[in-house]
Amino acid sequence: MKRILVTGITGTLGRQVAGMLRSFGAEVRGLSRRPGQDFQGDLADGSGLGAALSGVDTVVHCASDTRRLGRGDLQGLRNLLAAAGRAGRPHVVFVSIVGVDVIPYPYYRVKLAAEGLVEGYGGTILRATQFHEFVLGGARIAARLPVVFAPDVPVQPISTRDVATRIAELADGPPAGRVPDLGGPEILRAPDLFRDYLQATGRDRRLVPVRLPGATFGAFRRGAHLAPSHRSGGERWADFLHARTSG
Ligand SMILES: NC(=O)c1ccc[n+]([C@@H]2O[C@H](COP(=O)([O-])OP(=O)(O)OC[C@H]3O[C@@H](n4cnc5c(N)ncnc54)[C@H](OP(=O)(O)O)[C@@H]3O)[C@@H](O)[C@H]2O)c1
Repeated sequence: MKRILVTGITGTLGRQVAGMLRSFGAEVRGLSRRPGQDFQGDLADGSGLGAALSGVDTVVHCASDTRRLGRGDLQGLRNLLAAAGRAGRPHVVFVSIVGVDVIPYPYYRVKLAAEGLVEGYGGTILRATQFHEFVLGGARIAARLPVVFAPDVPVQPISTRDVATRIAELADGPPAGRVPDLGGPEILRAPDLFRDYLQATGRDRRLVPVRLPGATFGAFRRGAHLAPSHRSGGERWADFLHARTSG
């Protein structure tokens, strides 16, 4: 039975990953800056990492300062990899995002540099498309206004459960470098997803698709964040939304 440390275990993906790994029979331990998980620690200053990594076979790195566009993520990853090096070099599995090498969005630049660090360590990198929860979060924020603005871009939303399943498979295997991307089952348009949300929550609002100037938005418009030939067969947006908004 593998002993696996999940960083970011309190997050959207980390929670699913921990559950999936346990269902695969792994012994899972979680790291969080807050009390309540198996290990309390902070990637930013490396505190608690030695104890958390002691005796683990694998680390699934789901932690990221997503709210601050990954500020501190690179130092946190350097601290994690250094501590892993001192703890017998466990397999490190890193979750990245499709298109980080093409889209000049600041958070994606951080993810790309992080991939380089994991590559140098000899770990495994999985790029995924946007999570259903991420799209739902965007729709919720947009729906706070009387007129709902939606970016006029395609999206390939994926269930975090499906990403977690793939991660659990990768965590069970040997280091594999960058593996094929993983995208959701369908490519849809963000304005349609936001409209679905408004309908599902009974909001009668005007929705305006928005086209923004600039290289980042242009790359999203061209679909640089999509993985059309790597579609998961998993949960579709409509089913996810129904489960989240009904009852
Ligand atoms: N959202 C998407 O659509 C998407 C798509 C593809 C890939 N990804 C990637 O998937 C990963 C997980 O994303 P998510 O949406 O699940 O993130 P999330 O919900 O924002 O969770 C972030 C986690 O990181 C932990 N964390 C942040 N800073 C930390 C630090 N200094 N030390 C220790 N833990 C720290 C937090 O734990 P505590 O607060 O408990 O310490 C939290 O559990 C990220 O790498 C993201 O780039 C996301």
